[in-house]
Amino acid sequence: MPGLITMDDLTDEEIISILDDAERLLPVARGELYLPLLKGRILGNLFFEPSTRTRMSFETAMKRLGGDVVNLGDVKSSSVVKGETLFDMIQMVDGYTDIIAMRHPRQGAAQYACDSAKVPILNGGDGAGHHPTQTMLDLFTIRRAHGKLEGLNVVLAGDLRYGRTVHSLSHALTRLGCNVTFASPESLRMPEEIVSDLKDNGAEVVETDDLFGQINTADVIYMTRIQKERFPDEDEYAKVAGAYKLHAKDLDVAKPDMIIMHPLPRVDEIHPSVDSTRHACYFEQAFNGVVARMALMCRLLGVEVPADVEKAGGII
Ligand code: CP
Repeated sequence: MPGLITMDDLTDEEIISILDDAERLLPVARGELYLPLLKGRILGNLFFEPSTRTRMSFETAMKRLGGDVVNLGDVKSSSVVKGETLFDMIQMVDGYTDIIAMRHPRQGAAQYACDSAKVPILNGGDGAGHHPTQTMLDLFTIRRAHGKLEGLNVVLAGDLRYGRTVHSLSHALTRLGCNVTFASPESLRMPEEIVSDLKDNGAEVVETDDLFGQINTADVIYMTRIQKERFPDEDEYAKVAGAYKLHAKDLDVAKPDMIIMHPLPRVDEIHPSVDSTRHACYFEQAFNGVVARMALMCRLLGVEVPADVEKAGGII
């Protein structure tokens, strides 16, 4: 069954069309309009790693569209502790649900699940691999802020080695015509295979360790958390912890419409002083997870989003 495991599962035209669907669904995501497009459908949330935004926004998205959700809940309370395999679990949940959102610590686990599932699988993060539903909400956020994607200067900053959000996002941004700069400490550079893949596909990629030198020309600065849990040892983490910290005063040179994004959670890479600046966009970005995931679930379940949702929807 087709799912969304990496951004390669969507054509450029499909990405743009899903973003357009998401745009129309905004009043439903905000709870201003009732439109039960997924009434009778059940989402299975299988999260084998911690999550706040991805899990909750999937759940909100399904409920706002009139559907229901079953959760694996705490892995320690599931039959995983008795030794149940991922393969066996997918065979069960396949029968309980119409679509599955899954997060797993092992890179490749989402593809493995998708290969044996009859219902669509949405990859909500597989180890240091991919996080394509996050990419869709990121693209949606950028397009809403700037009215376009093509030609924008986007700086991806921080832990580019282990941060799966930037792995998926870098592919999509370059495909859609953005100029991408990777700003990271040397030891956390974007994996070489991703950089060469982007270059092989004709993208011009700039790599630097100077984040602050990029602020005046950026249209988007996408900050990331250093992924402590994926480091092989504590000493390696200690060398790069706190490498980049943005404060409000750093943004004096920024373009007025430059936005700062972050998949969240943040640790110390964006100081709270940034929250009240015109540039802070990360909480709106997190909200956009609902609307992007609504549009994705409709697409994967073959449900058309009406051209005029106001006419199709009802009062709550
Ligand atoms: N952005 C993101 O994936 O957040 P969670 O880990 O809270 O789901």
